Amino acid sequence: MLRWIVVPLVFALIAPASIGQVNQAQVRVDKASGQLLVQEKPFLILGGELGNSSAGTSVQADAILPAIAKLHLNTVLMPVAWEQVEPQEGTFDFSILDHWIDVARQQNLHLVLLWFGSWKNAFSEYAPAWVKSDTKRFPRAIGADGAPLEILSTFGTETARCDARAFAALMANVREKDREQQTVLMVQLENEVGYLGPERDRSPEANREFADPVPRALMQKLIANRTNLSRQLAAHFNPQGKTWREVFGEAANEVFMAWRYATYIDSVAEAGKKEYPLPMYMNAQLPAFLERAGEYPSGGPHPYYINIYRALATHIDFYSPDIYWPEFAYWVRKYQMPGNPIFIPEARLETAPYNALYAYGAAKAFGFCPFGIDSLHAPEKPGDPEPAVMQVYAALDSLGQILIDAQAANRTRGMVLHANSPRGTQTVDLGGYLFQGSLSRAWSTGALQVNDGAMLLLESSSNEFFVVGTGLTVKMTRDPDTDTNIASIASIEEIVRVGSQWKVVERENGDQSNQGRQLTMDPHQVRIYRLRLYAISR
Ligand code: DGJ
Repeated sequence: MLRWIVVPLVFALIAPASIGQVNQAQVRVDKASGQLLVQEKPFLILGGELGNSSAGTSVQADAILPAIAKLHLNTVLMPVAWEQVEPQEGTFDFSILDHWIDVARQQNLHLVLLWFGSWKNAFSEYAPAWVKSDTKRFPRAIGADGAPLEILSTFGTETARCDARAFAALMANVREKDREQQTVLMVQLENEVGYLGPERDRSPEANREFADPVPRALMQKLIANRTNLSRQLAAHFNPQGKTWREVFGEAANEVFMAWRYATYIDSVAEAGKKEYPLPMYMNAQLPAFLERAGEYPSGGPHPYYINIYRALATHIDFYSPDIYWPEFAYWVRKYQMPGNPIFIPEARLETAPYNALYAYGAAKAFGFCPFGIDSLHAPEKPGDPEPAVMQVYAALDSLGQILIDAQAANRTRGMVLHANSPRGTQTVDLGGYLFQGSLSRAWSTGALQVNDGAMLLLESSSNEFFVVGTGLTVKMTRDPDTDTNIASIASIEEIVRVGSQWKVVERENGDQSNQGRQLTMDPHQVRIYRLRLYAISR
């Protein structure tokens, strides 16, 4: 049965300041190292995001979290809907969330909360009915035909105030329940925001603002940051202009929406941080090739106009891409901006095992999360298939601190290849060597053995490397920028961690190493290999 808790608003808003608890969050992101720190210790999120309708009841926690814990995840991203926690104005009910936190703790899982407040994927479905039905108090964005959309307007001052109030109550609740244990690590503000329609809101208020000068504060920040603007923004930015159209040209509609969303959402984040300053981030739906603003959510925190968010939304700690497009590495790189730690809150489930290795290895991500993780199942009996993501997470978990230290010291690399990748081989450099990977082929026919392969490469000590991967063949040469020596393989071992020791399962040689000339990974299972190399002079 639901336990109803009426949180007096006055308490929710004034209590923390009066009892001095504001700075008690023991989780923070370190923007310089890109790490997530829990009680000042780096923590790697091996995550997964639940389906949109998977976290709306308490019984779902009992069914879903124990099953997920078996997949070797350590963190689950779960929606928390505004309509769920504030079904009537001013009456808050956190009983479902509290139960999820309790069950997560029992399962040794952490949580990241996804605040589905005013917007989820542009639309406003998760706002309470008392908000959605009162279009006077909570105005809608307006389409080109003058009709209201199912999208709350970014100009709704009451909407922003009520969203912020609900979010503050949520954060106060998390603080009271969780500040000792840090089961909840972070919070995502809204979800893939932006305006769907012809580029921008066409309400009278939006039209009026659009004809006005661009706010001075935004102009000053963009001018100060002029050398770091995205290519798209720099191409349009005219600091001599006054109105939105004059300053941003063809990009004006979208930049205008980015300004509105950034300002509104920052006010929500600010209210939440006053209660409990956990790390807060926003996720972006990425524009597809040739897609126009408004076909993808216009003004969302995607790379083209992210400078607007970074200039205005000072309470947002970082920005994250939801990567469903095939060019995973391309989109990750777009978010590797100084001061923006890499966290992938959503990624396609099918390619997740490969992309995870790239994210942690190449981009030093502190977290990666396939979407719809609750649709995966750990094996129930011997012989049942083990999801590859589970194998990846188990391997990364066994590397533990070695991986965290190597990431921080820039001693990791990543590689992901698919049968349809634009190039058949990729090369990374590490520790004085070049590692050239390609998808594994049958020795006799040369036919591809797999369509996907990936590795995370880690330099553990001089001439020694750990490789977590599957489906690749890797050839090593000396890096010509280091010396002109000749590289050779000393040994390749498949290893597993048993307690604090590494146990050698198999030494790879003969046919398995192409007579000592390459690392040949298992095409179908994720394994950990220890590779020792040496170099001789010519
Ligand atoms: C991206 C959204 O952020 C998720 O909530 C979910 O709707 C997925 N798309 C579905 O593919």
